[in-house]
Amino acid sequence: MPVITNIDDLFALYKKRVPKMFFDYCESGSWSEQTFRDNVSDFADIRLRQKVAVDMTNRSTEMPMLGQNYKMPVALAPVGLTGMQHPDGEIKAAQAAEEFGVPFTLSTMSICSIEDVAEHTKKPFWFQLYVMRDRDFIGRLIDRAKAAGCSALVLTYDLQILGQRHKDLKNGLTAPPKMTIANMINIAMKQRWAWGMLGTKRRVFGNIVGHVEGVSDMANLGAWTAEQFDPTLKWDDVAWIKERWGGPLILKGILDPEDARMAVKTGADAIIVSNHGGRQLDGALSSIRMLPAILDAVGDRIEVHLDSGIRSGQDVLKAISMGAKGTMIGRAYIYGLGAMGKAGVTTALEVIHKELDITMALCGERELRNMNRDNLLIPKDFTGDWM
Ligand code: GLV
Repeated sequence: MPVITNIDDLFALYKKRVPKMFFDYCESGSWSEQTFRDNVSDFADIRLRQKVAVDMTNRSTEMPMLGQNYKMPVALAPVGLTGMQHPDGEIKAAQAAEEFGVPFTLSTMSICSIEDVAEHTKKPFWFQLYVMRDRDFIGRLIDRAKAAGCSALVLTYDLQILGQRHKDLKNGLTAPPKMTIANMINIAMKQRWAWGMLGTKRRVFGNIVGHVEGVSDMANLGAWTAEQFDPTLKWDDVAWIKERWGGPLILKGILDPEDARMAVKTGADAIIVSNHGGRQLDGALSSIRMLPAILDAVGDRIEVHLDSGIRSGQDVLKAISMGAKGTMIGRAYIYGLGAMGKAGVTTALEVIHKELDITMALCGERELRNMNRDNLLIPKDFTGDWM
């Protein structure tokens, strides 16, 4: 077993162990993947101010998100098909998150259902909602999340139509995978994954199959999105969702200062600055580059979190120092899950926490909540001079 010291180590193992179709699903951006790449590389443009001769004992990375204290301000992002990366993947990731002390977000397009995850965890998790044409179904989904004790609803606004990821089309992505010759050959080389999958009954979209009339074997994410997701979704729709839900509401997929101002007007409790991990609008700027303008636009009228591109504790520290009150990791924990199941998610969280803690100390701070833009060295042209 290799020594795991960073997220790249988990990635290497993940690549070896998970079938190509699901690896590609995770590791793709849309079209040219420019935004997907920029999300990660733009973090490197921000540098840190080193401060010495400060007492570094009794450090804390704890911060509240939506009024709840967590070990660090990092939530596991909603990721579709997580139960295809590892058997019972959503349950395993949710258990790792609650034991570590950070929130887990269950995707609408998960394999394990809301009820199943609730049954196998002790603490409340967040539920992510896609709005579909069938509003009755959406209403019932919100009620199910409420009944399962979910503590926040994460309403995604940036995926009413699906950005094209070339590899998913070429691989014919479905859940469970179709047994084409190419898939069979690839899966035969991923024995750990294959045995695990044979041992679980959770292999279809658990929140949907059996809950929507006429849908018994919905397998293809792309086709389902095109048929079911509501392309008419507007700002006004937040109102009925908020009312039906009645709890903390987060709007995910905000990447523009004007949209951020609109989001404040909806009365949501938080926004997540995100370009969906570079999976939707290719050519959009990275989340970290858009963050300062969004923070300036909304001030402290709403909690602002950052998603897309985080692969390390240093990235978390940069987003928080910039002014975000929370962050999300998607791929960084999926690598851990595919590599080693629940233990891999725990390892991903431990790696990020250690990087965050040590980096904070070397910046001369003991409390993450006290870090601010003065701790950063941001190039003057970081947010760009775009016309
Ligand atoms: C769906 O959430 C996707 O990005 O594939």
